[in-house]
Amino acid sequence: MREQAARGLETARARTLALTDLDERELTTQHSPLMSPLVWDLAHIGQQEDLWLLRGGDARRQGLISAQVERLYDAFEHPRATRVSLPLMSSREARGYLGEVRHRVLDGLDRAPEEQLFGYGMVEQHEQQHVETMLATHQLRDGEPLLGHGAPLPAGREVPAARREDAVLVPAGPFRLGVDGTEEPFSLDNERPAHQVDLPAFRIARVPVSNAQWREFMAAGGYDDPAWWSERGWAHRCEAGLERPLFWAADGSRRRFGVVEQVPDDEPVQHVSFFEAEAFATWAGARLPTEQEWEKACTWDPAAGHDGAPEGRRRRWPWGESAPTPALANLGGTALRPAPVGAYPAGASAYGVEQMIGEVWEWTSSGFEAWPGFTPMLYADYSAPFFGGDYRVLRGGSWAVDGAAVRPSFRNWDHPQRRQIFCGLRLAWDA
Ligand SMILES: [Fe+2]
Repeated sequence: MREQAARGLETARARTLALTDLDERELTTQHSPLMSPLVWDLAHIGQQEDLWLLRGGDARRQGLISAQVERLYDAFEHPRATRVSLPLMSSREARGYLGEVRHRVLDGLDRAPEEQLFGYGMVEQHEQQHVETMLATHQLRDGEPLLGHGAPLPAGREVPAARREDAVLVPAGPFRLGVDGTEEPFSLDNERPAHQVDLPAFRIARVPVSNAQWREFMAAGGYDDPAWWSERGWAHRCEAGLERPLFWAADGSRRRFGVVEQVPDDEPVQHVSFFEAEAFATWAGARLPTEQEWEKACTWDPAAGHDGAPEGRRRRWPWGESAPTPALANLGGTALRPAPVGAYPAGASAYGVEQMIGEVWEWTSSGFEAWPGFTPMLYADYSAPFFGGDYRVLRGGSWAVDGAAVRPSFRNWDHPQRRQIFCGLRLAWDA
């Protein structure tokens, strides 16, 4: 577990440094009011590691930087839009700080008691989450491409997903939602504890909604007819002037990390808000899944043996117990895009649902709430302040996520109007 923690921290750091290997102007520019300048993310990654791993979360203890400078990197104190005007560390200072913190952290890892190892996994996931945030910043940035076109991906295949009849039927019955620390030691507080949930039968699409399907919605006037939208969604659509996914142009092209290209038909749609996802689903005669439905379709193996539940067993991943590989899921960020629909038949869940891990974060209809028996973790304000807020839960991770920072139980949440994240959707239906 120690070796895994050290390796995980190194993997995250390599990604951080690769995305911030830019000149000072690129790093200090605010590319969007939705995002921090990259140099803020950079130093904040070090500040969090300093706080959680060198000081056990006690902010009153002196860290490697002054309390005054440390406060600049408090995400609760400074909203993203204001961070560019703070007297931030230069990228050179930030890199030096990150290196020094990491040196001490790895030094202490061998001596850390077993019960403190969770903190290392938590900090690794925090850094990986910021890597994804930094990729979103890169995507929002104007100018020449800096990251290339992305690594090759497996070819897709035809998988019908638009109609209820094509969807997988998940019969009614109980399953095990969430995880415990014993089975997933690095799971975060909001994923715990595991508990039994009984769901009515439902249907869920085998693959996420594709760009081709989204174009049909646009061609059918989906953006112009309030009938498909919730009242709040329609008000937002009008106010924000939404006509197509973010980064799409009227001529059928899109801008992806500075590269202008035709929108590929067979790729899962991304950069749509919850409001748009909800309108699309209504237009398609479907709905969004709840997060409970999503997790059951992803993890439950109804044919497997008993596990404290009347029948069936929870899989660690949709395909089984083994860790993700490039043959099973599109993760890790090197592709810079989702894989075509149907690209990972070997990654299907027991019910036959595909591409649930990686590709795009999938909007669910669920608000963000605590599971019964919730207990805050070391970073006590990670989840708790957000429960019950104006958020919708997203599941499954995206192509930008590292395999160490996602699990079938992992819960992401964001405001329903947000679409700069790598998010899409999958349809569901009542049975
Ligand atoms: Fe953070």
